[in-house]
Amino acid sequence: MNKSIKNICCIGAGYVGGPTMAVIADNCPDITVNVVDINKDRIESWNSSNLNELPIYEPGLDKIIERRRNKNLFFSNKVQENISNADMIFISVNTPTKKKGLGAGKASDLKWVEACARQVARFAKGYTIVVEKSTLPVKTAEVIKTILEAAELNNACKNLKFEVLSNPEFLAEGTAINDLEFPDRVLIGGENEDAILSLHKIYRNWVPEEKILHTNIWSSELAKLTANAFLAQRISSINSIGALCEATGADVREVARAIGTDSRIGSKFLDAGPGFGGSCFKKDILNLVYLSEYFGLPEVANFWEGIVKFNTWHQHRLSRLIIKKLFGTVSGKKICILGFAFKANTNDTRESAAINICKDLIEEGAILFIHDPKVDPKQIEIDLEKKEKYSNNKLKNQTQTLSEGGWYSTKNIIDSSDGADAIVVLTEWEEYGQLDWEEISRKLRKPAWVFDVRSIIPYDKIKALDLNFWKIGDGSK
Ligand SMILES: NC(=O)c1ccc[n+]([C@@H]2O[C@H](COP(=O)([O-])OP(=O)(O)OC[C@H]3O[C@@H](n4cnc5c(N)ncnc54)[C@H](O)[C@@H]3O)[C@@H](O)[C@H]2O)c1
Repeated sequence: MNKSIKNICCIGAGYVGGPTMAVIADNCPDITVNVVDINKDRIESWNSSNLNELPIYEPGLDKIIERRRNKNLFFSNKVQENISNADMIFISVNTPTKKKGLGAGKASDLKWVEACARQVARFAKGYTIVVEKSTLPVKTAEVIKTILEAAELNNACKNLKFEVLSNPEFLAEGTAINDLEFPDRVLIGGENEDAILSLHKIYRNWVPEEKILHTNIWSSELAKLTANAFLAQRISSINSIGALCEATGADVREVARAIGTDSRIGSKFLDAGPGFGGSCFKKDILNLVYLSEYFGLPEVANFWEGIVKFNTWHQHRLSRLIIKKLFGTVSGKKICILGFAFKANTNDTRESAAINICKDLIEEGAILFIHDPKVDPKQIEIDLEKKEKYSNNKLKNQTQTLSEGGWYSTKNIIDSSDGADAIVVLTEWEEYGQLDWEEISRKLRKPAWVFDVRSIIPYDKIKALDLNFWKIGDGSK
């Protein structure tokens, strides 16, 4: 049954559901796109008249929302109604690592996906194509299909019919809109040619034919996990070489340039930094580890688990290094942290390296002044599991007398440098590459350190100043 799609429902208005559906609505003005979520606050923010209050920061997203919202793009909590009206339903809910029970710490928690499948089974009408957009373990489509098939049998009189497709999302936060507009590829996995064609036709509104790949459903599910595992592995690889560079006098950027010219290796994703973060890389590798163990392949599991273990070690290595340079103690010392998001151009802090590094420093008694242009201090509070020390600005200047670790949020980097012993750059926000180092240097307590964990501070602007400078993966200074 070749179905022409007029009404899409996306369950989950998060970092994937929101931008993905915005781009579909923008490129397919004849299709009505309803994005639904159980989280009322999130939906309210999506509907806010102030576009700075959207729940997700992505360059270019606000413009699309302005163009399409309440025209053919709608955000609401009306899950039931929109499932009933949809020809095609995207499942785009969270799939975090299980915290307890079988597979805890590794397997993905599929309770939200299962809940969605049950809602779809209950409220869908007629023939509906269900698309897995969430990243899922191989064989999840089977679970969804089993639930939907049970509904087909139980409601034979209602002519219910479902087809399940896998259409994993490869966007990267921070560049989501560009990635969605100009994808390297779109992957559609499934068994039913007509259903595949219906989804294919939607993407053909803006994606070139040769970039839309069809696979079987299991290859599609596994390809997404594999892509993230390879990307994370590359980050850990270059960070491991960075540590060796620091020890030997080499410079990881020179090594990266040298190997990146080899066309078999390629030059992308070779920036040493604080280690990978974001909601996906760790979770998806752990999922791969779980699947490998489950299918009796412990060597495969150990291989991939090593990538996650290395990443955690690397983050703690950085906190230890900072403490060591500051004479072995940071107790009562003021340190400015620049950047809390896991990467630039997003407000997402999930699994951000800044969390481990800041927690370590606070544990050692440091007083952190944390700056990030887009992250809400309330989110930092949740991530650090510690309340901001004082909201009274006057007290902020008395930190040198405090010995217990804590943190403040700040919007002013220059003011926060006053009396600080170190500046640590953790996120590559563009503005951190353009700071007034002369002024900052005047404010810092000497001897002071600048730790550039993202290689974005221009050394020529620092070298004449009375500052110690450390850069990730650089053993040459
Ligand atoms: N964030 C990324 O960069 C990225 C990239 C590619 C793939 N993915 C995958 O996409 C999926 C979603 O990720 P995300 O970052 O958008 O997650 P998210 O946590 O930002 O959003 C998920 C949303 O789903 C909602 N939800 C959960 N259960 C629901 C239900 N039964 N009915 C309605 N709404 C429900 C939640 O309230 C939440 O708002 C995950 O599987 C993730 O691995 C994420």
